[in-house]
Parts: sequence; structure tokens; C-alpha cells
Amino acid sequence: MTEATQVEIPEHVLRYIHEHEILTLATASPTGVPRAATLTYADDGVNLYVWTRPETATARHVEQNRLVSFTIDEYSPDWRKIKGVQGTGEAQVLLGPADIERALELFRAKFPALEAGLPSNTSFFRIAPSELVFIDNSEAGGASDQSLAQEFPRELAYSVFRDLPAREVETIASKLQQRKVAAGTVIVRQGAPADKFFIVVDGEVEVTHEEDGKRRTLARLGPGQFFGEMAILRDSPRMATVEAVAETTLLEMEREAFRGLVAQSLGTTEHFDEVVRERLSGIAGA
Ligand code: CMP
Repeated sequence: MTEATQVEIPEHVLRYIHEHEILTLATASPTGVPRAATLTYADDGVNLYVWTRPETATARHVEQNRLVSFTIDEYSPDWRKIKGVQGTGEAQVLLGPADIERALELFRAKFPALEAGLPSNTSFFRIAPSELVFIDNSEAGGASDQSLAQEFPRELAYSVFRDLPAREVETIASKLQQRKVAAGTVIVRQGAPADKFFIVVDGEVEVTHEEDGKRRTLARLGPGQFFGEMAILRDSPRMATVEAVAETTLLEMEREAFRGLVAQSLGTTEHFDEVVRERLSGIAGA
């Protein structure tokens, strides 16, 4: 089975990938234990292919958690000359004979020494990139800074919407806007209509709930935590007030974008369900 990827890879990045031979592949176990491995790879202009033995940590991780990231780069003692590709994607073991033969052909074409054959008991993996960042420090400085700035919201989106497929998360990340608020700003007011969903990038917010004239603190939320999902998901007014207790940077997403992108998938997003359930019981337990 060949899956189409939606990523359009710019020509110079494709060339860079095609002309290099080794990548560092980072995988993680379902509990988040990381592993980085250096592997030779081949590409078909869209996907990357690697091989390893099935008993390696890399192979086991991919079996249980398809999300991977990788770098393809080259050493330079001068940091200004550092170049490379950083990517995120989904890896999948190849099981069909035609897929395996195709991967082998790509390897043979790139590494003629492989004509002698690969070790037996080898698994091939296809990596479909969902995001690629080309780092080139030799270009005018701004370019890499920009890539890094874009990288950060995506990392957060991955951690917040971690049960969603990588491509869906990419779309979500592209809809987030950054906003800074001063300490003391009320971001969300209990009882008000809900227009946005928020993720805390840095700083801290306090969640309070008022009932019968009494105000109670429910939680303080910091980097990587989110709020403003309940009223949107339940189609109700804001259930609590959220106020910045320090200067706080937020990522925000318009209600309709949040609903449109995520609502359908939330049934399968256990992490989200769990957080909302817990928060509801916090409010009910007044
Ligand atoms: P919403 O009702 O849209 O606006 C107020 C937000 O406060 C709510 O969504 C949640 O995101 C957040 N919130 C409510 N209760 C809790 C809680 N117990 N712990 C953390 N956050 C909460």
C-alpha cells in the first residue's frame, strides 16, 4: 500500500535529502522513552526509507508509536555553515512484498554495494514527513530564527492534541495565533460567550469559579496546558474565569477553527476527554 503524503517539498530541500546518506531518527516508546538511531536511508522524492532489525528499540518504538522526527545534516566546525533538514512524520513498517521490493530497489540504486545483499531478518520502514524545516545558517540569519519560531507552537500543539494524527496536528498548529497579556488580564470571564481556545506558552494563569458570591480557585495553568475548551465543546457560556497572574504568552484559536478541526476527532482524543471530565468534576465539587 502506498500512502500519498500532503507535504510539498521544495526543490532545494529534496535535493539536499537526495544527496545525503545518513539520518538520525528519533523515536519514542508509548510512555515517552526516547531513542535516537543513526541509519542509512533512501528516498522516493516524497517519503524516506530506512531499514533495521525488528528487535531494535527503533523498530519496537515505531510499531507502538508511529510519530518520529529526524535530522539529516553534516558536520561543520563553524556553526555559521551548519545546514540540515529537520523533519517530523509518521513511520510505518513495510509488510507488502511489492513495497519491500520497491524500498530495496531505492537502496540498491543509492548504495550499489548493497547488491551483495542485506542481512536477513531486516525490516523496512517508510517515513512520510508531515513537516520539514530546512536549516541553513549560511543564509541571512533571519531564516532559521523564523523556522524556530514556527517550530515552537507546533511542539505545543503536538503535546496538547497528542492523540490526533500528525497531519491533523499540523493543520491545528497553523491556525494558532500568538498573543501576550499582562499580569492581571482577565482572558476568559465566567458566564461570557466563548470565542476562543487557548494554550499557555509561558507565564501562568489562574482559573477561578464563582458561585453564590463565593470565588474559589480551581487551578493554575502553566506552559503546555490549555483552557477555554469546555464552553466551546459543550456549547455553553464560559464555566470559569481565567486570569493571567504573570505576563503570559498564549496561543489562541478561533472557536470555529477549534470546533471544525478538532470537535469531530475529540471522541477519539482520550487525553482531551479525560481533562474535560476532571475539570467538570472540579466545578461540580463546589
Ligand atoms: P471554558 O469554560 O471555555 O472557560 C473557562 C475555562 O477554565 C474552561 O473552559 C476550562 O478550560 C478551564 N477550567 C475549568 N475548570 C477547570 C479546572 N478544574 N482546572 C483547570 N482548568 C479548568
